[in-house]
Amino acid sequence: MNPILELARERLKGKRVLAVMSAKGGVGKSTIASLIALNFGERQKTALIDLDIYGNSVLKLFGIQKLHEVSKEGIEPFRVGNLSIFSVGGLVGDHYIVLPGKEEGNVLESLLGLANLREETVVIDTPPGMGEELLTLKRVANPEVILVTLPSKLSVMVVEQMLEYLLESKLKVEWIVANMCYLNTPFGPIYPFGKPEFVEKLGVEKGIKVEYLPVDPELEDFSGRIWDYSGLLKEEIRKILDE
Ligand SMILES: Nc1ncnc2c1ncn2[C@@H]1O[C@H](COP(=O)(O)OP(=O)(O)OP(=O)(O)O)[C@@H](O)[C@H]1O
Ligand SMILES: [Mg+2]
Repeated sequence: MNPILELARERLKGKRVLAVMSAKGGVGKSTIASLIALNFGERQKTALIDLDIYGNSVLKLFGIQKLHEVSKEGIEPFRVGNLSIFSVGGLVGDHYIVLPGKEEGNVLESLLGLANLREETVVIDTPPGMGEELLTLKRVANPEVILVTLPSKLSVMVVEQMLEYLLESKLKVEWIVANMCYLNTPFGPIYPFGKPEFVEKLGVEKGIKVEYLPVDPELEDFSGRIWDYSGLLKEEIRKILDE
């Protein structure tokens, strides 16, 4: 028996766990996970957990530079309104981490097992790829997956393989999100990666709903204070959550 693993399972037991994932990097996972958590946070207490050991993008998006405090209950979250944020970056500070791959699972299990997690809704940001974080998540919870891709053929082909694995593993894939699909202009929408036909076809083939999100150039201004952002992307994500 692994006590930390058991603890992590216990912390997540009975909670709604949404994991934002993609085999492809840079497609908007951290942004979308943060905006989903902020939307939930407007209605209920929500936890946002950053499982990206090396990127810690969530802390950067929220402009958090502090370290987690530790109480006898465990690792205390950073609080932003109704949101409780946990990140490995909050344990090591603004410093790079170099970690043997075989240790990654232990680090992630420790964060999940020791987090003072009280919220019933938990949104998890994951790093790109299909590595230890995916296996860790499968070990500790039964997450609903939100699979993010760009609408480009290359991105969809990479994400399709992950989708096959997730479905074979009997994980529930809630939606495929095609991020940065279109940019609204006074002359109508522009599709920077072409019309999203590949992702549409994938959704039909696998019977999974595809949600199409816009490019919002204003988002960049809110890096470091994403809680202040109420633009188009946040609104579109709200509509999806309300469906
Ligand atoms: N819909 C969008 N409109 C405009 N910019 C976006 C949008 N989605 C993401 N971005 C920008 O794209 C960049 C990558 O986003 P993000 O870091 O969320 O991706 P990621 O998939 O988490 O990356 P990684 O694989 O490195 O973890 C960021 O600069 C982010 O602000
Ligand atoms: Mg990220």
